[in-house]
Amino acid sequence: MHDPHHKKTSVIALCGKGGVGKTSISATIVKILSSDPASKVLAIDADPAVGLSTALGITVTKTVDDIRNELIRRVQSGKTTDKAEMLSMLDYEMFSALKEHQNIAFLAIGRPEKEGCYCQVNHILKDLIAGISDNFDYVVIDGEAGIEQVNRRVMEKVTHLILISDASAKGIHVVKTIKDVSDEAIAYEKAGLILNRLRGEAEFEKLVIPPDLNCLGWIPEDDTIRSFDIEGRSILEIKDSPAFAAVKSCLNANFL
Ligand SMILES: Nc1ncnc2c1ncn2[C@@H]1O[C@H](COP(=O)(O)OP(=O)(O)OP(=O)(O)O)[C@@H](O)[C@H]1O
Ligand SMILES: [Mg+2]
Repeated sequence: MHDPHHKKTSVIALCGKGGVGKTSISATIVKILSSDPASKVLAIDADPAVGLSTALGITVTKTVDDIRNELIRRVQSGKTTDKAEMLSMLDYEMFSALKEHQNIAFLAIGRPEKEGCYCQVNHILKDLIAGISDNFDYVVIDGEAGIEQVNRRVMEKVTHLILISDASAKGIHVVKTIKDVSDEAIAYEKAGLILNRLRGEAEFEKLVIPPDLNCLGWIPEDDTIRSFDIEGRSILEIKDSPAFAAVKSCLNANFL
């Protein structure tokens, strides 16, 4: 039910070059935001290679694209043509794909099996995800590497765009491109850059960062993240670590 006192959902999307730490930082942000038991957080794994589920210790059984593919099969075989029937099936399936654990819910987008324009199905799904998102205070989207999702407007509803880069010129170039494309394609409220895996303040100060990227801060190279990843353990289990504290201070930097 619509609650007029419910504050607007913040939809936070993380983008950047491959391997810069989008998934690790997404999971850390989910942990930070969900530490307030009154906040409801929806984590969306929008990377076809799925990684956020592992970082959050969640087993994916059904993705949004599994649902989409099943619906396309039904439409193609003539089993489903009625729009109302389609909607109620999707509604049910989406809720069964949503994994919930205390105040965190999780949804994996998956990998589209079928190319081509299934516009009606895509629109319905987008609307459903938007509808589900409305029930949460925060939505954290772990994006795929690069700028395709911004181009395809998967990220349309984003309010807070977080650009992630390592110290490399290439990484910073990629986030600059993402920022430029996003400025054209989506109506976000705020964007900020987080630099990951830096070796200290001295390294940070040497970097040349385009000023319009709004740097929120930097995250140190952190062995806790590395070893949890190696062991396949959930980032939610990390009690405290240098990276955790640094992500927290980036979010507090007048961003969220
Ligand atoms: N601050 C950090 N300190 C140490 N290791 C880190 C840090 N951030 C990320 N890593 C490690 O870097 C690797 C890549 O991180 P992650 O998977 O989060 O990146 P990604 O941007 O999501 O990658 P992909 O583009 O493949 O999805 C992982 O092994 C992760 O453990
Ligand atoms: Mg990832």
